Amino acid sequence: MMNALFASLSRVLRGPVERYVRPNRRLNSIAWDLQYKLGFWRYLDRLSDGEMPLALIETWAPMPAILDLGCGSSANMPLPPGRYRHYHGVDVSRAAIAQARGLARPHTSFSVADIRTFTTPSRFDAILLREVLYYLSPHEQRELLLRLPALLSPRGRIVVQVHDVTRASDVVDLVRGCGVPVDREVPARLGEGPAGAFLVLR
Ligand SMILES: C[S@@+](CC[C@H](N)C(=O)[O-])C[C@H]1O[C@@H](n2cnc3c(N)ncnc32)[C@H](O)[C@@H]1O
Repeated sequence: MMNALFASLSRVLRGPVERYVRPNRRLNSIAWDLQYKLGFWRYLDRLSDGEMPLALIETWAPMPAILDLGCGSSANMPLPPGRYRHYHGVDVSRAAIAQARGLARPHTSFSVADIRTFTTPSRFDAILLREVLYYLSPHEQRELLLRLPALLSPRGRIVVQVHDVTRASDVVDLVRGCGVPVDREVPARLGEGPAGAFLVLR
């Protein structure tokens, strides 16, 4: 019921939100905060593709340091103790980050920040963009993807998660052509969802 309402609202508001809300950082964070406070994204907490993407990251970086951009509550990100060195989540919504901190998982830290400008002196073995690129303009998506390799460790990779490859073909095409080489594409399925993918860059 809540999801159907959310889907209809999203369709109606999509144009105005893209034009007026997202470009304004303050309005954008207020809008995301409101959605988390109203519980619109709670269903994501139960959506996962098993051990992914941690199992995928482990293929190039056992015990990785992970940066998760647009992490939401992070509840659907598998982080079994002893399988990662550190996890840092970044999200523009204070409410989402409060939920993430509330999980009190070891070796985690969080920032409330806009990923379009977020930077850090730390370096990571994996930078995750899970279901978040859609909310940036194509120009912002490209800029971000080109900026991220500077935040990677020598063994680091970028992982873009797309839950529906067919519906998000514009994002997938942009990632494939952004200028950072795509190393591999791994099929994914979130819950009962359609065919998705993890695109591994660099
Ligand atoms: C669909 S949710 C995905 C959350 C999480 N990555 C997942 O897969 O469950 C998109 C997330 O991106 C965050 N987000 C959107 N635009 C952002 C921005 N410019 N900076 C930081 N976070 C942003 C939202 O607050 C929201 O938590």
